[in-house]
Amino acid sequence: MTKRIEYLSITENKRLNKDFFILELSGKLKIPEMKPGQFVQVKVDGSPDTFLRRPISVHDVNYGQNTLKLLIQIAGKGTETLSRLQKGDILNIIYPLGNSFSLPPVGQKILLAGGGCGIAPLLFLGKYLKLNGFLPDILLGFRNTERIIEFSEYKEIGKVFLTTEDGSQGEKGFITQHPLLATTKYDRIYCCGPHPMMKAFAEYSDRNNIICEVSLENLMGCGIGACLCCVVDTVRGNLCTCVDGPVFNTKELKW
Ligand SMILES: Cc1cc2nc3c(=O)[nH]c(=O)nc-3n(C[C@H](O)[C@H](O)[C@H](O)COP(=O)(O)OP(=O)(O)OC[C@H]3O[C@@H](n4cnc5c(N)ncnc54)[C@H](O)[C@@H]3O)c2cc1C
Ligand code: FES
Repeated sequence: MTKRIEYLSITENKRLNKDFFILELSGKLKIPEMKPGQFVQVKVDGSPDTFLRRPISVHDVNYGQNTLKLLIQIAGKGTETLSRLQKGDILNIIYPLGNSFSLPPVGQKILLAGGGCGIAPLLFLGKYLKLNGFLPDILLGFRNTERIIEFSEYKEIGKVFLTTEDGSQGEKGFITQHPLLATTKYDRIYCCGPHPMMKAFAEYSDRNNIICEVSLENLMGCGIGACLCCVVDTVRGNLCTCVDGPVFNTKELKW
């Protein structure tokens, strides 16, 4: 798939809460066809601290309207700078990057599991699955009710189950403790979130003979396989998260 460096303009910057916002982008060229799990490398202008581009997953694409959405959590200077962009501002991105989640065989029972900014790639994936005839269960974890985002968007692609760490909505605790995992037999799990969460899903999938794919959020430099700062240890040796991933079958990873 050809990669592009392109200037896109911000058509909307929607603040969801204190930590999260969604950038909607559009450009003069037609947005290229992208696959769920792929990401963009965003150039953050404005300070030497943000010299390196920041990797952000494709959250949603509307080919008809020629728009691309990024769901971003403010983690540091780069994402904080991005949160201040306004309609009409220009953003330089390299895209589409990385591999993608695999499409399951017809009839499989699917779970999408995400926590924090890890929910970002799961909306595009869920829409893709729905288009292909799947109705996935979606398990989302948040710290508390105030942090719950995008609930109605996920509800359109499947049945949504929630956990909050303080129990203010849904089940109390982490998504890895949700009763659904004890009562439902899934064929395939797609997961993205904090490293311990993905590791727990890898172990759960291993114990229950489930295929599990995770999207890793390793630190990245170039995003195109040149700097090796995103290397991950796998059964196939050291691989670059940016070009060989970010999506990996959990059986491949040496946690
Ligand atoms: C393939 C991929 C897809 C991603 N998709 C999204 C997304 O859709 N939405 C989103 O909000 N974030 C996403 N991330 C994480 C995002 O890239 C980082 O949060 C961002 O680069 C932090 O930049 P910063 O300048 O704001 O913070 P920095 O000042 O660079 O870092 C702030 C803190 O965040 C940590 N951090 C930095 N980079 C990462 C990283 N890659 N993963 C985890 N922690 C990091 C640092 O260690 C530090 O503690 C993704 C990461 C990868 C690799
Ligand atoms: S980020 Fe440079 S090789 Fe992956």
